[in-house]
Order: sequence, then structure tokens, then C-alpha cells
Amino acid sequence: MKLSKTDYLHLSLPGDKSIAHRALILASFIKGKHQIDNFPINEDVLSTLKIFHNYGLKYNFINNKIMIDSSNLSFKDSIIDCNESGTTARLLIGYFSGLNINVKIEGASTLMQRPMKRIVQPLKNCGVDITSNDYQLPIKVNAGSALKPIDYSLNIPSAQVKSGLILYAISINGQSTLKGQIHTRDHLENLLFSLGYPIHVKEDKIEINGGVKINKNINMKIPGDFSSASFIICVALLKRGCRIKINGVGINKYRIGFLEAAIQMGAKINILNKQIVYGEPIADICIDYSDNLKGITIDKSNTVRMIDEVPILSVLACYAKGDTVVNGVSELKVKESNRVKSIIENIQAMGGYAKLKDDSLVIKGRKRLYNTTIKSFNDHRIFMSFYIANRLISEKISYDMNDTSYNKSFPGFISMVEGIFK
Ligand code: S3P
Repeated sequence: MKLSKTDYLHLSLPGDKSIAHRALILASFIKGKHQIDNFPINEDVLSTLKIFHNYGLKYNFINNKIMIDSSNLSFKDSIIDCNESGTTARLLIGYFSGLNINVKIEGASTLMQRPMKRIVQPLKNCGVDITSNDYQLPIKVNAGSALKPIDYSLNIPSAQVKSGLILYAISINGQSTLKGQIHTRDHLENLLFSLGYPIHVKEDKIEINGGVKINKNINMKIPGDFSSASFIICVALLKRGCRIKINGVGINKYRIGFLEAAIQMGAKINILNKQIVYGEPIADICIDYSDNLKGITIDKSNTVRMIDEVPILSVLACYAKGDTVVNGVSELKVKESNRVKSIIENIQAMGGYAKLKDDSLVIKGRKRLYNTTIKSFNDHRIFMSFYIANRLISEKISYDMNDTSYNKSFPGFISMVEGIFK
């Protein structure tokens, strides 16, 4: 495909939310001054920032760069509020368990319903004293127990659980080992490795030498968030005549299942200027309007690599010829909403075809779609996906005006999308 430098609309995106949480937690672990450029200011990341600020972490913003001073941070018995951020909760349950401090972890009512046994149980096995009501928030981590390194085989492919356990392991003297379903986003591993921490990632296990002091401060630029990019990619593919270049996006191999699926469907996408920054692969992504997409079948192992992008992939699938089958969707049922249900309800309301068959989501493409009122179920990714689905049909979009769920990850979403449609 011939690319012209001039006729692409150039965009860049706020930094990756998953990396931002992890960088903030490590900045609190390494006492001193840190700088993080392209820091995303969204509700989830601010939940993590606020928690460490309450422990004495100082920060100020210079445009998109956050300057952090964690020199005087000190942990005391406290109650922390994770608001609606599942990543904050699961990572910090592991982190505070390793620090062996008293902390009560709470969150908004929506977060209280999300499963925490996946992170609590392996920590209990290491001797952590955790109390909860049926493994849901609020959860209390009680200090004083004798803690052991972790040796655990993950039985669900969750990066939040893996990262929570790694954050536990770095505080505990001795070698910890994680096995099983470890092939999920590896941002924490990359960050630790870049900071010189002794973490060894092998094909079948991750070994962490606990209790090692990190002597390097964080000075990094966070790549653009691929999950946010996926919405823009979908607009570019489906809006007639559109050409967009997104600069400096993270293309971590555990995150780009959506990109690979779109290419397999026939999307005109070019990936340029690949480089590694702070252990993370980044690139510019050029997208051209593609009117000949075909449905595909996605293997369970690839669904994990697009776990947050299945809603927007479903929208893309509605425009593709034939069926798209996404296998292995059970984890989608325990996200901010039951995403299988949220996707099916929105697509069906628009006149499309989407059904759950066993553990697979089946979408039949090229049905005539009609505008409807977006039902977000208070789920940012559902809101953004069906904003796009509806915006492609008409500029009049109907949704509850109090619905600002997109602020959880992508506060600039509406203005960026509307800018493309102008
Ligand atoms: C995340 C991991 C994923 C993802 C979430 C962010 C992370 O969750 O859905 O939005 O930053 O680790 P799971 O680990 O539960 O799959």
C-alpha cells in the first residue's frame, strides 16, 4: 500500500493505563524522585495516585508529565478507596500484603461485586492474614503474620492477579515462582527488568528474587494506550475515506490481539517505526478505511490478548461479511459489566445479530443497523464501542447525559471521535 505522509490525520493518545498504575506503584516502592511523561489522567489511574498521595507521595503535573517525589512516603494503618478500579484493588492487595501493613481495601459498589478470590487465595497460601466477606471488597490485610515467598500456578489468565502476586513477591525475602497462565500483559515484568530488578521471565515460569532494593529512579514516557487506540482504529476502518496515523502506541504482544484480528479480517493497517522504550514495544499505526472486512474465528488464546477490546471488535464484526466467532469469553462476564450480555443487548437493540453459544460469542455481520440509545451498563468500554457503532450511522447519538463512564479510561474520547467526524 502506498502511504502519503500528508493525508493521514495524525493523532496520539494518552499513556497506557495499565503501565501507569504499575509505574505509580513502583514509584512508591522506590523512594526518591521520578518523572513519567505521557501520563494518562483518567479516573482509574487517579484512584491509584490518590491512595499514594494520602501516604505522602508528592506530585505535580507539567502538561502531560507527572513529577513524583516519594522520598517522604510512609505507610500507616489506613483505609484505601479504589473507587471503581479493579486494577488498583487487585494490584494493591498483593502490594500491601507484601509490605505487611494493616490496610482495609474498599471501593465503589460496582467494584465490591467483582471477584477477588483469585488474588486473595494465593496470598493466604503464603501466610497473609486477609479477612473478607466471601472474597469481595471490603478486604482487610492484617499485619504481623510470618510471610513466605510465593510458589503458585495461575489458573486464570489474569494480568491483574499476576501483577498483584509479583508486587507481593518483591517485598518478601527469597525466591518466588509463578507458573501456569502467566502469558498476559507483562508491563510490570518489563518495568522491573528495565529498573534492573532480578526478575526472570521464562517460557513456563516467572522467578522473582524478593527483598532486593531498586537503586534506579523512574524516568520514562508511557506509550499511547493500545486499548484506547482500538476505538480510533475501528472508526478509521469503518468511516468512508478515513485515513488515520496514530503515533507512539504500545504494541505489547499480549495486548494487540485486536490489531491482529482486524488485519486478519482484511483491515488496511500498516505498523511503522517499531522501537522499544523502557522495555515496551511501541509503533505508529496507519489505518485506512477498509470496506471489505470478513468475519473470522478467534481462538481462546487470542481472546486473552484482546480481553478489553472484544466490545469494539464486536462492532467491527457487525460490518464484516460472514460470521465472527470469539471463543473463550467467560472472563468477559466479570469485567466492569457482564460484557457478553452488554455486547449482545446493544447489538441486538441496533438490529444486528449477536449470540452466546457455549463459551463463544457469535456475531453475524452486514445486518442493517439502526441507531438506538446506548446502554453502557456503567462500563466505559461498552459506552465507547456503542458510541462508535451509533456514530457511524448518524451524528445524533442518544445516551444518558449523566453517563461519563468513558472517563474511567479515556476522558478525551468524545472530542477525539467527534474531531474525526468533523
Ligand atoms: C488489566 C488486566 C485485565 C484488563 C484490565 C486491566 C491490568 O484484567 O481487563 O482492564 O492492567 O492488569 P484481568 O487481569 O482481570 O484480565
